[in-house]
Amino acid sequence: MKAHKISEQVYCLYADIQTEDLFEGIWPIPRGVSLNSYLVKGKKTAFIDLFRDWSGAEGQFEEALASVGGAFDTIDYLILNHLEPDHTGWLGEFRRRNPRAEIISTAKGINLVKSFYKLDSGLRAVKDGDKLDLDGVELVFYETPNIHWPETMVTWEPASGTLFSCDAFGSFGALGGRVFDDEFTPEEHVFYEKECLRYYANIVSSFSTFVERGIQKLDGLDIKCVAPSHGMVWRKNPKDIIERYARYASYSRAEAGKSSGGESEIAVIWSSMYGNTKLGLDAVIRGIEAEGVPYTICRVPDEDVSYALANAFKAQALVLAMPTYEYAMFPPMAYVLDIFRRKHIFGKTVLRIGSWGWVGGAKKEYETAIEALKWESVPSMEWAGSPTAEELKVLEERGKDLARIVKS
Ligand code: FEO
Repeated sequence: MKAHKISEQVYCLYADIQTEDLFEGIWPIPRGVSLNSYLVKGKKTAFIDLFRDWSGAEGQFEEALASVGGAFDTIDYLILNHLEPDHTGWLGEFRRRNPRAEIISTAKGINLVKSFYKLDSGLRAVKDGDKLDLDGVELVFYETPNIHWPETMVTWEPASGTLFSCDAFGSFGALGGRVFDDEFTPEEHVFYEKECLRYYANIVSSFSTFVERGIQKLDGLDIKCVAPSHGMVWRKNPKDIIERYARYASYSRAEAGKSSGGESEIAVIWSSMYGNTKLGLDAVIRGIEAEGVPYTICRVPDEDVSYALANAFKAQALVLAMPTYEYAMFPPMAYVLDIFRRKHIFGKTVLRIGSWGWVGGAKKEYETAIEALKWESVPSMEWAGSPTAEELKVLEERGKDLARIVKS
């Protein structure tokens, strides 16, 4: 694969990762992910963000570097905006091949270089506003902590107006030989937008406050190109991805007892053991459809929690359908709620429904699980065994009630 030119002095290099491995050991990436790095060439050369040798990444980067006459042993500075090992796993091998390059990161980043990779020389900690002169091109560093690790920073190249933002403004989805936003069709953008939402919900959503702070901090820069560490490079419409991230960050904002975050849609997340909870859910969905409110639907555990999380993060309201299981919540749904709490799925309006066999029990555990989530609940509905015709009518009305709240 060749390097992709951003300007006379700036190039994007990336590896498409196609693997059955889970991202961060937890999130599925069936359509892959890209690991992006950048080469900035003055008389001196900087390489921005490394990679993990994953699914043949090393060979893809060597080939891309060679396409612009580079090699790892000719790099003068290695800039690490973020230390998560998807961007640094190859650092030990890099150092073996290039003992002289200076490794640059924030002070917290340098501590992580030491703890993860046991390197203790050739390291430089930079602070907010520090500059690096490459003799012909200059880089500026801005600390943007907690997007999404404490040490994170971005690197700015003023001449081309390129912001190297690492995980911020990133997305899942392999790129397949192209890299710039103007090289993808509108249909492809629809796919990548879904993968961007899932990436944000899975990786970044707990840190939305810091995303908003980071966007405000960078507001004065004349950004002509957003160059993240995953996903496409935004040279035609850089504002699109910045505004998208600002919108996503706003989904996390919620005040106690007040539904706020999300779009006017409903995320249905359901589970069923023998179809009795599903019968009730079908009635709720009839009610939602009668009101014409858009909804997504995701069954757990059949579909991974990654998708339920993305749907729930985006929607104003949720339907959670689960049977009682051994006097408590159906275990896959308990896991979903635990992930929602960790990922700050705040401020939703929620309808919970479900069937029970011997006695109920999901309610108590559910109410404890959602205490921290600042959700507004519409009256829940539980029934014994299979729902009666009367109960189905009530369930349909509950679906309509929830949809009307979303529409109001
Ligand atoms: Fe792509 Fe947080 O690493």
